[in-house]
Amino acid sequence: MRIDVVSIFPEFFSVLDVSLLGKARQAELVQAHVHDLRQWADVKPDGTPDVHRAVDDSPFGGGAGMVMRADVWGRALDDVLQPGGVLVIPSPAGSPFTQALAADLAQAEQIAFACGRYEGIDARVAEHYEAAGFRVAELSLGDYVLNGGEVAAVAMIEAIARLIPGFMGNAASVVEESHADGLLEYPPYTRPASWRGLEVPRVLLSGHHGMIARWRREQQMARTRLRRPDLLADDDDGVAQ
Ligand code: ADE
Repeated sequence: MRIDVVSIFPEFFSVLDVSLLGKARQAELVQAHVHDLRQWADVKPDGTPDVHRAVDDSPFGGGAGMVMRADVWGRALDDVLQPGGVLVIPSPAGSPFTQALAADLAQAEQIAFACGRYEGIDARVAEHYEAAGFRVAELSLGDYVLNGGEVAAVAMIEAIARLIPGFMGNAASVVEESHADGLLEYPPYTRPASWRGLEVPRVLLSGHHGMIARWRREQQMARTRLRRPDLLADDDDGVAQ
């Protein structure tokens, strides 16, 4: 997979060089390219040269803050988006980014992340690339507001890249983890079996695989009911909605 990121803070993405994602880059499962939006900000909206390389302007209709310009983003994405590529625009106004969506996006040949700042990117950018035949996804990390799309893009890249076949050392841990089956994961335990007066649940020491599997499933259900009741279907059978 090829990942392109366009941002006014390209240095934010140095984290892509470390940890598992760094290994995936070395193994050439993922090629990540980070671009500075200002390289496409050399002209003003009226077409005259802009030595200041501004990327934003005040909102039509009034209101607080600044909006990122469609002309600047259009030049950037015309260069960066490849045929068949997916355009992802992180935004607190987007639809929720989920594990299912991460798994779906892990199949893409290219994903281009357009990281907005300020009050966001002129709405015509998403509209234009959708009309041009690209898959465009405005996605939110959660119900809170970050200063820009950069942190959200890093989180999405990590969630997507680890689902690319060959990325994880242990394929079973992808299948068993939280959200893979629509439930939260069961609580994990390892040695020592007794720690500060706290004992590991006895069933895990029993060697009885059937009982362990049943206990883990019960724990998944109990945790999900307590912490994330929204994930449970009406009939409470553990199948995600
Ligand atoms: N940009 C700002 N806040 C965001 C959020 N919650 N999710 C995705 N992108 C964002």
